[in-house]
Amino acid sequence: MDTIIEPFMIKTVEAMPFTSPGERMIHLRAAHLNAFLLHADHVTFDFLTDSGTTAMSDRQWSAMLSAGESYAGSRSYWRFKKVVQSLTGFQHVIPTHQGRAAERILFQVATEKGQCVPSNNHFDTTRANIEYQGVAADDLVCVEAHDAQSEFPFKGNIDLERLESYLVENAGRVPLGMQTITNNTGGGQPASLANIRAVSALYRKHGVPFFLDACRFAENAYMIQQREPGQADRSVREIAREVFSLADGCTMSGKKDALVNMGGFLAMNDDEIAGRARNLLILTEGFPTYGGCAARDLEAMAVGLDEVLDERYLEYRMATTRYLAQGLNERGIPTMQPPGGHAVYIDAKAFLPHIPARQYPGQALVVAMYLEGGIRACEIGSVMFGRDDGAGGFEASEHELVRIALPRRRYTQSHIDFVIELMGTVASRRDDLKGLVMTERPPLLPHFTARFAAVDDWVDSLYG
Ligand SMILES: Cc1ncc(COP(=O)(O)O)c(C=O)c1O
Repeated sequence: MDTIIEPFMIKTVEAMPFTSPGERMIHLRAAHLNAFLLHADHVTFDFLTDSGTTAMSDRQWSAMLSAGESYAGSRSYWRFKKVVQSLTGFQHVIPTHQGRAAERILFQVATEKGQCVPSNNHFDTTRANIEYQGVAADDLVCVEAHDAQSEFPFKGNIDLERLESYLVENAGRVPLGMQTITNNTGGGQPASLANIRAVSALYRKHGVPFFLDACRFAENAYMIQQREPGQADRSVREIAREVFSLADGCTMSGKKDALVNMGGFLAMNDDEIAGRARNLLILTEGFPTYGGCAARDLEAMAVGLDEVLDERYLEYRMATTRYLAQGLNERGIPTMQPPGGHAVYIDAKAFLPHIPARQYPGQALVVAMYLEGGIRACEIGSVMFGRDDGAGGFEASEHELVRIALPRRRYTQSHIDFVIELMGTVASRRDDLKGLVMTERPPLLPHFTARFAAVDDWVDSLYG
């Protein structure tokens, strides 16, 4: 069958916010053309992130009601711990309020100033938490990842030759090594099982503990099953278990593949590091049996970690990103290939070649998408990574992307069809889109709060 069906029925609904073109213009002007500054109630399709935006299931909501909200030793913790242990095989399970809290604790207890930590690509919170310790965060992603149009199926792989020489050159300075699955920074691209096995063997050969950033472990395992020769007959659960067995620990943001709105954990086998992590956890997150979460959050994660491995769900999810990417491509909108797990990335540099990087083609597209139909997406390009070089020049980002991240179980096939149609209208006006000027640039993480103005007033002429 060609039709994608959502493998769930709807029990609770939330009305979608609809706005008129005139209202959208008022809202976006008030937000200084920055979609992060919009009120979510003025957004019809919110594709800003897949993190914490999951629709939870009836099983999760009912598990939450049966949670034991005790300060210490809650039954919910034991249930949660058992689920995590049986999936990952890791001895120590330390709940945290979200992924970056697990990262902060891990790097604070396991690294020292002057050391370095390799990965495929560190996610930005991971990098920030490593660098905060005075430690270098190094990206060793495979070469194929740099070509947005390459169809290479595993752009989350680590370059093994580079890793080997890195470990030799930095012998004694690498307290742990990582791999992010899927590789969010590189477009939600998976790492192959063969690559994870080889990375694990290299880390072990050099005596370096291996930690996975496992936020999207289920999507990664599903893409291994679908794309990697020899894996098609294995269940996603079996593949996920093998992936975890190759590592010594993981950080996890439950807001992705644990299908919850808040929660995360740190897990590992090393008794000594785990002991230190628990002590720090008590200081900053809470007692080790709740660690920054309510017991009901632990219950929801325990159920979510099971539901996410339902292959019908994963089939629907991956079919949706593929379908959206194909729909955009058919309307002349190029996307990063192949589509990854949680998002479709529009290649704004290729779509709007007449807008120079300094005028933020990705952000111009974000503006047009909102004004056209209330779609909110996220620029990942020169707004985020561009720099004035101090001599009147501008260092552009390597890519100019617009990420359409798909919240889990939230939108249906007809929503996606509608979005594709709206994007067709955006595409028909592409030659009329112009650039933006950044009128206010905050010193850190500019994309969150920067302000923009339209070059030649194109926004008013086109949408006013
Ligand atoms: C790959 C990756 N690692 C870590 C994190 C951080 O997780 P959290 O937002 O729960 O702190 C994210 C969040 O988007 C992520 O995508």
